[in-house]
Amino acid sequence: MNIEVSSEKSGDEARIHHVTEQAFLSAPHTDHTEQFIVDALRRAGALTISQVAKADGEIIGHVAISPVTLSDGATGWFGLGPISVLPEFQGLGIGSKLMQSSLDALEEVGASGCVVLGDPAYYGRFGFEVVDGLVFPGVPAEYFQALSFSGEFPQGEVSYHEAFSAQG
Ligand SMILES: CC(C)(COP(=O)(O)OP(=O)(O)OC[C@H]1O[C@@H](n2cnc3c(N)ncnc32)[C@H](O)[C@@H]1OP(=O)(O)O)[C@@H](O)C(=O)NCCC(=O)NCCS
Repeated sequence: MNIEVSSEKSGDEARIHHVTEQAFLSAPHTDHTEQFIVDALRRAGALTISQVAKADGEIIGHVAISPVTLSDGATGWFGLGPISVLPEFQGLGIGSKLMQSSLDALEEVGASGCVVLGDPAYYGRFGFEVVDGLVFPGVPAEYFQALSFSGEFPQGEVSYHEAFSAQG
């Protein structure tokens, strides 16, 4: 299987919506709004990084990275997610390719760093770590991690883009 990762192109929107919806269908800890979040981020011009993974030319995975706000006023920080791989293609390394490629692209645009909400075991392998004093209210500390491109971390509370409250 030939997997290629590239930036989202005009015309990919409906397929990305479908892939995101399908990926999260049986995922735990979700209210199944991820596909609406991606759409809303795009509408708001907040999809800083939007990459697709294609298998033999068809989109089977997607990752979104969007700006976050820090209560200490730090700038240049972003949040990774949602990240999605169609269920029948999960566990084949495609998510890892999307993670690596999107983080490389984020570093290239001059970002200070990135945060992620999710399984520490999965995201730790890409360099994310729990940072004392950097929190996302309402989730256990070990599920909120950060990756700095400069080695420095902000402090305080992180807020995601308002598109994350999209319901449809
Ligand atoms: C999370 C997701 C994008 C990973 O993509 P993937 O192509 O399956 O991941 P990879 O094949 O690159 O990595 C597989 C490894 O990660 C682990 N893994 C995959 N998904 C995981 C998850 N949700 N939580 C914890 N570990 C996970 C696998 O056990 C595997 O570990 P191993 O390398 O030690 O065997 C994909 O499983 C998915 O779409 N899940 C549903 C949606 C979701 O939960 N997204 C994350 C929250 S935003």
